[in-house]
Amino acid sequence: MEDIAKIKQEIDRAENLEELDRIRRKYFGKKGSISFALRTLGTLKEEERRKQAPALQILKREIEEAVKQRSKNLAAKEADANLSGEWVDVSAPGRKVRSGHLHPLTRLQEKVNGVFSSLGFEVVEGPEIETEWYNFDALNIPKDHPARDMWDTFWLKPESEKLLLRTHTSPVQIRYMETHQPPFRIIAPGRVFRHEASDASHDIQFYQLEGLMVDKDISVANFKAVINEFFKALFEKDVKIRLRPSYFPFVEPGFEIDMKSASGWLEMMGAGMVHPNVFQAVGYNPANLALSGAEGWQGFAFGIGLDRIAMMKYKIDDIRLFYGGDVRFLKQF
Ligand code: PHE
Repeated sequence: MEDIAKIKQEIDRAENLEELDRIRRKYFGKKGSISFALRTLGTLKEEERRKQAPALQILKREIEEAVKQRSKNLAAKEADANLSGEWVDVSAPGRKVRSGHLHPLTRLQEKVNGVFSSLGFEVVEGPEIETEWYNFDALNIPKDHPARDMWDTFWLKPESEKLLLRTHTSPVQIRYMETHQPPFRIIAPGRVFRHEASDASHDIQFYQLEGLMVDKDISVANFKAVINEFFKALFEKDVKIRLRPSYFPFVEPGFEIDMKSASGWLEMMGAGMVHPNVFQAVGYNPANLALSGAEGWQGFAFGIGLDRIAMMKYKIDDIRLFYGGDVRFLKQF
């Protein structure tokens, strides 16, 4: 019994699992003393054996139990030590997940689509490669108009096919009217192309948003109301606009719309009342204004430069930044 107490003390003093294992082997290993005593029991005389066997069994069990206990404690201690090495600061700010986002022009286009949808406009699209008919003729742009010049338009080869990269979104007006009857209101956002030198406010490609509303008795007053609503919703405040007389072959009268900014009036869009020749080109009967416009159709059309609006809204001073693909720029939106 004295032996048991001593061995147990030894076990409890083991500092780590390795040391404990060494102690265990000292008693239970092949050459361990308890193993040896158990093995030699059989060589003892009957009487001796009966005396020693039960004590030896108790010793064996108790020591085994003591090793098990100490082993458990040591394992728990070591796990604790490992954990405290892996220190976690629960108050540290989280790591940001880096994700991409839509291009600022796409975001603006979606917002603009939303504003016009809420005003009852349907969103339609047209092709970026157009024919001369849709881009020019049907829009009442005569053969000698400077817009048809080599330097304004990208003509595709072979030139005999008269295919081009659309210079504006106005051809979508024609495509829509050819297949639909009034009354309707549509917008057509999309990319357009101009063969010209680029600078801070011009690029060879940019985005436009065409608008067209056709009904009986549509007037410039309706246009002003719609466009006022649009600017208010987009810039989230009351904005001052003005109509300035201008010329586009497919409208009459035609005007440009300026918006008041800190640095003066800024040109934002072209617009006007749809020219009777355009209605005739798609087979509509234009209103005869001399007869009060009661029969036949009339409407307004407008073309907004989306890049210009984005530049105003996000305070960007060079249109080429939109197309440069520089993430340092794009990351700011
Ligand atoms: N298509 C014209 C442009 O590109 C803009 C415009 C559209 C003007 C509709 C009047 C009516 O400049």
